[in-house]
Amino acid sequence: MSGRIDLHCHLLPDLDDGPADDGDALALAWALVDDGVTTVAATPHRTARFKIPVLELRQRHAALVSMLAHHEVPLEVLLGSEVAVDALLDMDGTEIEALRIGETGPLLVELPQREGFGDPTWPVHEVLDSGVPVLLAHPERIPLLQADLAPLRALVERGAHAQVTSGAVIGRYGRTAQSVAMDMLAAGLIDVIASDAHHHERRPPETGTALEWLRTNRPEVDGDGLAVHTPRVLIPPRAPVS
Ligand SMILES: [Fe+2]
Repeated sequence: MSGRIDLHCHLLPDLDDGPADDGDALALAWALVDDGVTTVAATPHRTARFKIPVLELRQRHAALVSMLAHHEVPLEVLLGSEVAVDALLDMDGTEIEALRIGETGPLLVELPQREGFGDPTWPVHEVLDSGVPVLLAHPERIPLLQADLAPLRALVERGAHAQVTSGAVIGRYGRTAQSVAMDMLAAGLIDVIASDAHHHERRPPETGTALEWLRTNRPEVDGDGLAVHTPRVLIPPRAPVS
């Protein structure tokens, strides 16, 4: 498949604050298709207190793929997780590998949305040092990174990639997040745009709208690079089994 690739979306039903049931997941899947997405990563929250065993995640992913196929939804669904930094602290290398997007892609990591964690970036540096690629979820909504671009720049220079959220681009998360998103884009610190959608109505995918907004207001931004080309590079095809 080719088209937009959404590397951050809460599509698995009855798990976190995403769709409540199969019906809602189906509606969100169709909303993604309508938004021009052909591949999506299902990335349920993983925190120190909210841990779904990898085997169960895989079973739920398989059930969703089967349900979408039954309804003939033209959408490829990869499995990943949105891993909070506090969860990283007690995960071993095997578990980290298992939660990478589509197995070959980056680990989606969320820095704390509240202050008081000390330096929350060191566990991310450790993951990068271990050779696992990292995609930072919505840095424009993280207070530490809103205040100063230096910690994000340090992570990017170490090899991390960063994902801006479509809703933030169009102002759904307020002026600060929107303006920080623009600063990060202008500084070359953002590689990917993704929906972080949770529901077809309450938090819908709006990447098409965000790309249109960027075309009008920031024409220098490479929207296809953010939504298609770089996400594709970040999830390389698996090596054939010999
Ligand atoms: Fe998310």
